[in-house]
Amino acid sequence: ADLFDEECDYLFKAVLIGDSGVGKSNLLSRFARGEFYLDSKPTIGVEFACRNVKVRDKLIKAQIWDTAGQERFRAITSSYYRGALGALMVYDITRRATFESMKKWLRELRDFGNPDMVVVLVGNKSDLIRSREVAREEGKNLAEAESLCFMETSALENLNVEAAFLEMITRIH
Ligand code: GTP
Ligand code: MG
Repeated sequence: ADLFDEECDYLFKAVLIGDSGVGKSNLLSRFARGEFYLDSKPTIGVEFACRNVKVRDKLIKAQIWDTAGQERFRAITSSYYRGALGALMVYDITRRATFESMKKWLRELRDFGNPDMVVVLVGNKSDLIRSREVAREEGKNLAEAESLCFMETSALENLNVEAAFLEMITRIH
């Protein structure tokens, strides 16, 4: 471990889940490095990125794992979830099918994840107003029914990205 790691009070692992193309990798690159890619390629296997954040005087190293939404590129699920204390469950507000998939992702979380995991439901691509297929209210209702936090984000316009990750990180104890 380098000096920077040793100064951290806690290491938190969190995961990104959701269908292919919803913007998981761009949410992560935006949060970790302030970068966005219009022409990003689908993720193959598993990647991760880190960012240190200060919460209530403690320095937390958030280690965020990102995997392929496409089944054929996904790595072994149980190892992906192992040790994760938080999850961002992402859909694309312009593709209803990705919202309907949230049921499947919730089931996977419950099968493989820690039962105390902090889960934030994220409706991404809020910048694409005219292509919207999922009302904000629908996301909010699902989150309430499943006891999740909820946020709409735009990785492109950098709207609520920081807030979504921080919501998750600050709720982890
Ligand atoms: P997989 O790795 O295949 O699971 O996909 P992913 O969820 O990681 O999606 P990715 O981040 O690669 O983004 C897919 C496409 O959506 C890319 O063309 C991005 O530029 C675009 N995209 C991501 N976030 C946003 C957003 O907030 N707004 C808009 N307009 N486009 C976005
Ligand atoms: Mg990806």
